[in-house]
Amino acid sequence: MRVLVTGGAGYIGSMVCIELLNEGHELFIVDNFSNSDASAITKIMSITGKMVQYANVDITDRNALEVVFRTYSFDSVIHLAGKKSVTESIENPLQYYYDNLIGTVMLVQLMQQYGVHSIIFSSSATVYHPESICPIQEIAELKSSSPYGRTKLAIENFFRELCDAHPTFSAVLLRYFNPIGAHSSGEIGEKPLEVPNNLLPYLMDAVSGKRPPLEVFGNDYDTIDGSGIRDFIHVEDLAKGHIKALYYSMEHMGCESFNLGSGTGYSVLQLIETFATANKIEVPYNIGNRRPGDIAISFADITKAQQILGWQPLKNLTEMCQDAWRWQLKLLQEQRVEAQIVYPTKKTV
Ligand SMILES: NC(=O)c1ccc[n+]([C@@H]2O[C@H](COP(=O)([O-])OP(=O)(O)OC[C@H]3O[C@@H](n4cnc5c(N)ncnc54)[C@H](O)[C@@H]3O)[C@@H](O)[C@H]2O)c1
Repeated sequence: MRVLVTGGAGYIGSMVCIELLNEGHELFIVDNFSNSDASAITKIMSITGKMVQYANVDITDRNALEVVFRTYSFDSVIHLAGKKSVTESIENPLQYYYDNLIGTVMLVQLMQQYGVHSIIFSSSATVYHPESICPIQEIAELKSSSPYGRTKLAIENFFRELCDAHPTFSAVLLRYFNPIGAHSSGEIGEKPLEVPNNLLPYLMDAVSGKRPPLEVFGNDYDTIDGSGIRDFIHVEDLAKGHIKALYYSMEHMGCESFNLGSGTGYSVLQLIETFATANKIEVPYNIGNRRPGDIAISFADITKAQQILGWQPLKNLTEMCQDAWRWQLKLLQEQRVEAQIVYPTKKTV
């Protein structure tokens, strides 16, 4: 198959591209590199030994995106491009609604215009009601508590209505829980350009001394050790879920949602402990207050993805922590080399 991957240079997108290429598919990446850089594409090529075509395109730029659709034909789109920080979305909802919603609408307009009827969309567990009963099933009530989550929810609703109106269209909504880890080669992983929002990148910055000790938000929840419980999923397992979703989409019209998580809840303190043991390293952390809006427990019921997509996450928490740290060490090394390069200055006459 020939697949258009939006946001393919990003953390999850690059893993999806590697899986697609390893499965023998062709792909084209569009990315505006707002939270990534083209080195990710070089790495995708070196890991898979395959050529990848890409364009530096913002998906809200309809004209630029249309050039891609006019030039290449696609069987499906895997749509990951978008903004993803809950905190930033509270500060700048306009940007979030514009990029995530308008970008998706433009993409779908072009898909319809150029006869592409299948899309796999990166949704999120944040679409669920914060008080959902765990394990959370896909039929749980949808009610997000942030502008970011509400953009995901609005896009999900858009796809449901689109599929109702166009019965030949297929939209698979993948609700990710907490993707962590890196490619097992150690060559590619998350590379946040700003202060990390997610737990593991922050934890690793604390370990490497780039940031202060990790703050654990609350140890008085009604959980095994008082810290919040989350569902961590290895990013490679998550990426493999996209391939299953792609095959499903080729054979099923309509709109369907699937949870992609490990199906197991681990506490934040368990994650810290596992990271420390797996990598034989100390994790500096403090216990802080609960963070407003945080919930005690969130983990997925993944039965639907297992039974309908035939998908099964394989990697455990120790592997997630080892792969993440292997990549972090590589990244630190790359950044040190980059910092040492002295660029020649232009001679003035
Ligand atoms: N990482 C998570 O914890 C998580 C959880 C749930 C859902 N998601 C969703 O998964 C998707 C991928 O997440 P990620 O962690 O890989 O993020 P990421 O920021 O690493 O990747 C997103 C990529 O999209 C690109 N991009 C952003 N806006 C764009 C635009 N307007 N046009 C073109 N390219 C654009 C970025 O440069 C980046 O390469 C996002 O939609 C995110 O909301 C992520």
